[in-house]
Amino acid sequence: MERILIIDDNEEFVEDTLLGLRRHYECAWADTGEAGLERMAAVDPDLVLLDYDLGEGASGLDILGRLVGGWPDVPVVMVTKESGVRTVVRAMKEGAFDYVVKNTSREDFLDVIRKGLALRQVKLENVWLRRRLQESLGQVIGESEAIQQVKREITEAAATDLSVLITGETGTGKTMIARMIHEASDRRQQAFVEVNVSAIERELFNSEVFGHEKGSFTGAIGTKRGLTELAHRGTLFLDEIGDMDPSAQIKLLTAIESGQIRRVGAVKDIQVDFRLVAATHQALEERIRHGLMRQDLFYRINQLRIRIPPLRERAEDLPVLLRYFLHKHFPGRAGLELAPGTMDALSTQPWPGNVREFESAVQLAVVRCGEGPLRASHFNLQGALERTPAQEADYSQLTDQPFAQARDLLLEQLRQAYVQRFVQEGVSVKDAAERIGISREVLHRWMKDLEP
Ligand SMILES: Nc1ncnc2c1ncn2[C@@H]1O[C@H](COP(=O)(O)OP(=O)(O)OP(=O)(O)O)[C@@H](O)[C@H]1O
Ligand SMILES: [Mg+2]
Repeated sequence: MERILIIDDNEEFVEDTLLGLRRHYECAWADTGEAGLERMAAVDPDLVLLDYDLGEGASGLDILGRLVGGWPDVPVVMVTKESGVRTVVRAMKEGAFDYVVKNTSREDFLDVIRKGLALRQVKLENVWLRRRLQESLGQVIGESEAIQQVKREITEAAATDLSVLITGETGTGKTMIARMIHEASDRRQQAFVEVNVSAIERELFNSEVFGHEKGSFTGAIGTKRGLTELAHRGTLFLDEIGDMDPSAQIKLLTAIESGQIRRVGAVKDIQVDFRLVAATHQALEERIRHGLMRQDLFYRINQLRIRIPPLRERAEDLPVLLRYFLHKHFPGRAGLELAPGTMDALSTQPWPGNVREFESAVQLAVVRCGEGPLRASHFNLQGALERTPAQEADYSQLTDQPFAQARDLLLEQLRQAYVQRFVQEGVSVKDAAERIGISREVLHRWMKDLEP
């Protein structure tokens, strides 16, 4: 039950009011302004009814100012003897939500209270949303101006219903950001439907995205709802939109413009309402020039644009990302030291797999560095890769040596080649070990042996 605190010195009025309110709300009463302020914490009301003409002590207006200042999310309804314009204006200026005249009808009285409580709900919801968005934005790590800009754009995008196009190389966080926008938007209670355009076979695209009726083609055993239909009232996330077939592009455009879709084999359209978020690593403007992307569709999906620069262009994010990933994967070792020059070496790397690649590089480096400190040589850096002898094993040199020694050397090189490959491909230690049929412990040892 919602709680109301009444601050009024007129016992008769209060008794009368309480009779009407007690059935709907939990009520508390204070007969002076000061007592009212004191009781705020204990009662924790959802709304305050405040008498304008408090007898002794601080005036109603004075108490109003202190309530609004101290509890900005609790609406205050001023109760006045008569509806003098000056009184009302002053109360509203001080931040009262509304006012009621003492002899007003019970229905009108309840009506004002209901509206005040509804406002309180909205305020609480907003506070909650802001906090949640802040929390989730906290997971976008980076100190560069570019990342700060991206965070501002996520906040903006979440507040609108416009289509958003997120561009950036692989591993820059496009999918993560698409999800965040949905979670912070008014549609968060509804579905977030992810469609990887490049992963759907061309012949199945229509049926997957728009659904099909039973028997509409061989294999359509039952009726199926399409992904656009599942995204109704929610968000449709089209990943790799640059790979969309031109014929599919027209269908999508029609669906967006009309707000209607038609299942394959159906005769009727279905009303759909989804918010579109799309992502691509390709330069869509380029594809438009080559006739691979429809310009009209591009305009539809590009109402807001979030550009995430590649990691190599924001080296200032590397130190915080490093600390973040240490903390995430090795909570006990978040304070691991870095040998001088390590960060410089990392910041000259191209990181083609961006944050995703950096994350696995950090994991591997920590495993390799033993007690620490972390050195550049613990990461598989590009320069080091080019110098690796693994690919062109030189047998003439090997065969100069005793067999046992040559065999060990060759094995060593082979192990190195395996480890480097997995790191480059961003495969986890667990998966890598499974793939080549050795235990995780052995693979860990190989990695440690790579230490210089
Ligand atoms: N700024 C960042 N802060 C923290 N984590 C990040 C950041 N950017 C990316 N990541 C992490 O990197 C990984 C890759 O991100 P995500 O999958 O969103 O990239 P993507 O751009 O969608 O890649 P792809 O193009 O391959 O689909 C995720 O684990 C994500 O949480
Ligand atoms: Mg992605």
